[in-house]
Amino acid sequence: MHHFHYRNDSLFCEDIPLEQIAKEQGTPSYIYSHATFTRHFQAVDQAFASVPHIIAFAMKANSNIAILRLMASLGSGADIVSGGELFRALKAGIPPNKIVFAGVGKDHNEIKYAIESGILFFNVESGAELQAINHVAGELGTQARVALRVNPNIDPQTHPYISTGMKKSKFGIGADQVLGEFDQAAALPNIQVVGVHAHIGSQLTKVSPFVDSLTKVLGLIQTLKSKGIPIQYLNIGGGLGITYSDETPPQPQELADAITPILKETECEIVMEPGRVIAGNAGILLTRVIYIKDNGTKKFAIVDAAMNDLIRPSLYQAHHDILPVNQVPNAPEDVFDVVGPICESGDFLAQNRTMPVVKEGDLLAVMSAGAYAFTMASNYNSRPKVPEILVKGGESFVIRRRESYDDLIRGEHIPEFLRT
Ligand code: LLP
Repeated sequence: MHHFHYRNDSLFCEDIPLEQIAKEQGTPSYIYSHATFTRHFQAVDQAFASVPHIIAFAMKANSNIAILRLMASLGSGADIVSGGELFRALKAGIPPNKIVFAGVGKDHNEIKYAIESGILFFNVESGAELQAINHVAGELGTQARVALRVNPNIDPQTHPYISTGMKKSKFGIGADQVLGEFDQAAALPNIQVVGVHAHIGSQLTKVSPFVDSLTKVLGLIQTLKSKGIPIQYLNIGGGLGITYSDETPPQPQELADAITPILKETECEIVMEPGRVIAGNAGILLTRVIYIKDNGTKKFAIVDAAMNDLIRPSLYQAHHDILPVNQVPNAPEDVFDVVGPICESGDFLAQNRTMPVVKEGDLLAVMSAGAYAFTMASNYNSRPKVPEILVKGGESFVIRRRESYDDLIRGEHIPEFLRT
């Protein structure tokens, strides 16, 4: 459940009409609901109340430091995948001992930064990475805590770009190799093996892939125990899906009910890395129709937001509902492509979408844009990044200002020889 709703045909975020935000801050803009972020975090937290757990919010979904600060205030840690994310998490006040670091290509500097910051553990994705962490920890005269990420070879039945737990994927260590890697890890002088990690994909809409994966992982943890490698933490990753259109993913409680018996049997402290389920429906992208274009074959609503602001439709053919900010009762419908100003045919927010007829100047809300939305934005076509605004009740706060043209060239430099 989220806090974007109509009141008298005007779409609100909590107690503020989106039209008012558009007037004050312009468009396009990302708008986030404080109450929705809070509610979603607490739903996950409460669902898993019967097992000791740490929620490490997958900040790749939304990494604005105000959002991270909110997460920290609710008790969240962070799942990070880069030194940049570590920097943001620490700036936001996320306790280092609730930070876990995944990703197949951590470099020397990132490993050093993470060890020095005192993160909870690394999620290690290969034998080569294990060696690198051992080396850096040795240089620092310390031991690094690691969980090995196992690839359980489970089909999560989601979009191939966001499936990560199958054998052909670059992620994790294959089930056939993982025991060997654990042996290696246990023998390394500067490594302390503390956990097992398994994340199989994102936007999962069924419970069964989680159950299948964790059943395999339970077997692995028991085998490791019998070999004298006790496992303190089980990191179950993220991946729980949300409703973008008509999906009916399990609620956090349903997932918890299905997997808690397995989790308990592991006797581990559980780390989980939800991203989308917390952030996805906590944000929208507010945009205005610039022109309507009818080429005789198709009708286009050309809006001021584009693929550089929200790339999910272009990249994954992802569906985002698009709602009129001011709804007209019994409005006639028509079929539109909702497209942006970027010079690419792939620049669309929706294709062949049946929606209430829109006209120039109308405001639209692109829904479910709180996760993997602003974080995947770029400056393509030299478009300044749009602001992020957090609404709390009847108040709104700019948590990232709109970029200026000067921001676009910040850091660029014309060498002397070109200055004639
Ligand atoms: N943990 C790990 C190791 C991950 O790789 C991910 C997501 C998560 C947790 C969080 O998964 P979530 O709970 O959000 O499903 N850009 C894509 C999604 C990429 C997900 C990458 N990894 C999209 O827009 O759908």
